[in-house]
Amino acid sequence: MDGPTGLRNVSSICSISEMDDYDLSKLLNKPKLNIERQRSFDERSLSELSIGVTRLGLDNYESTCSPGGRSGFDTPASSARNSFEPHPMVAEAWEALRRSLVFFRQQPVGTIAAYDHASEEVLNYDQVFVRDFVPSALAFLMNGEPEIVKNFLLKTLQLQGWEKRIDRFKLGEGAMPASFKVLHDPVRKSDTIIADFGESAIGRVAPVDSGFWWIILLRAYTKSTGDLSLAETSECQKGMRLILALCLSEGFDTFPTLLCADGCSMIDRRMGIYGYPIEIQALFFMALRCALAMLKHDAEGKEFVERIVKRLHALSYHMRSYFWLDFQQLNDIYRYKTEEYSHTAVNKFNVIPDSIPEWVFDFMPTRGGYFIGNVSPARMDFRWFALGNCVAILASLATPEQSMAIMDLIESRWEELVGEMPLKICYPAIESHEWRIVTGCDPKNTRWSYHNGGSWPVLLWLLTAACIKTGRPQIARKAIDLAESRMLKDSWPEYYDGKLGRYVGKQARKYQTWSIAGYLVAKMLLEDPSHLGMISLEEDKQMKPVIKRSSSWTC
Ligand code: GLC
Repeated sequence: MDGPTGLRNVSSICSISEMDDYDLSKLLNKPKLNIERQRSFDERSLSELSIGVTRLGLDNYESTCSPGGRSGFDTPASSARNSFEPHPMVAEAWEALRRSLVFFRQQPVGTIAAYDHASEEVLNYDQVFVRDFVPSALAFLMNGEPEIVKNFLLKTLQLQGWEKRIDRFKLGEGAMPASFKVLHDPVRKSDTIIADFGESAIGRVAPVDSGFWWIILLRAYTKSTGDLSLAETSECQKGMRLILALCLSEGFDTFPTLLCADGCSMIDRRMGIYGYPIEIQALFFMALRCALAMLKHDAEGKEFVERIVKRLHALSYHMRSYFWLDFQQLNDIYRYKTEEYSHTAVNKFNVIPDSIPEWVFDFMPTRGGYFIGNVSPARMDFRWFALGNCVAILASLATPEQSMAIMDLIESRWEELVGEMPLKICYPAIESHEWRIVTGCDPKNTRWSYHNGGSWPVLLWLLTAACIKTGRPQIARKAIDLAESRMLKDSWPEYYDGKLGRYVGKQARKYQTWSIAGYLVAKMLLEDPSHLGMISLEEDKQMKPVIKRSSSWTC
């Protein structure tokens, strides 16, 4: 566990005692293919079950995992069966996942984004995307196959070392690629790699999330295998420092959040997320915490450790205070005065109450809350984004109360956020004039499609992880049931369209790898919650202050 300042003993990065917290699964002598595993919740000890389940979640969790039967699960018999015998989709998913493997000189180094032969346009879906590989990597780690993850981490680290240019402009040294492609030359019998750091991507935006996912994955690998040697290599230490140097440098910032261009993350087209998007802030926070656990406190690492600790402190305060919205906060903002000057201002960012969109008044339940999409001067993007909110729970950026409130909101706005296919990437969609202005008339991002309120099955793993962490596996169970009723039949689409997510997306790829892997990870997490430790961080008690809901705007 982290020390008083969140700092850890130099020599014990990811100390074994910390590993013990989560990696009991290591001791279980896991079979090669998870579908053979027969252990149910009931057979596991309580200490195992408490893994990743916060104080708040434990009660709830125990009641759903009562010894002697699975009657605690309020789900149909068909899903209770899943704990005993695997759903037929699981075997299909593994087969499809293995088909998507990419090899470099005979070594598996990643998975391609989609294996869709029927699609006329390949675009870049035949590449290994860093963010897309994360659920694949977790599936392999959970299945006791860490080699591919190690290969991927090393390969992308090498790519980070390349000189990157867009026209005549040189990109920061630490930038990680959005994707890479292996080219096989059958004549010369040689493999080469091309990578895209934003210079080929539509819109020419560099992926800010790639570096963060890389750090998060390095920790997941370390945590899952107990192999500290990879993270300890000078190459990995340098790779981390280079990524961190990009986002911890001083500039003109007045906020600890990270300023980003539109399209710099999973939402990689213009969708009005420029500024301080929640997805990036949550990943930034999580990556900082993961790096803190893995960085050596040597001459080069020490300075970064200090900067991380300070940034984490400020970032958690800022996010928990200014990005948080619940019924009370909304009411406070609604009544804001404007044009307040000096440090006594309540309405610090001068948000004009008239800019609050109509929909949010109906959407906000009496119980529940969420981190809004963006906060900057006179601008609050009230949209709800799935990834940022789930990652905020996993990283413990959200306080335990906030985490519970996010789950409350998902439950009470189930039809809007989950509907018939988990999970909306964001809510609500933007349309008409607003769509024209915000997206630049993007025909792929029409209302309730793709990034604009589309439903993305990949998000199922994040939802499931968040559910387990907050002690509410029954929510994940319901979501997985929905996915199981459609995904295989529809050939694992990339996304679904429509207000309820009932239609296979207009331009959705089939056999989208992260939809497949996301499903597998969700299943494995639910079956064996001890996997959660790979992608979850416990609350750092030093990360004060814990701001009470509703009071944050006045303190
Ligand atoms: C689309 C998505 C992006 C994903 C890529 C490959 O561009 O917006 O998030 O990484 O496809 O699947």
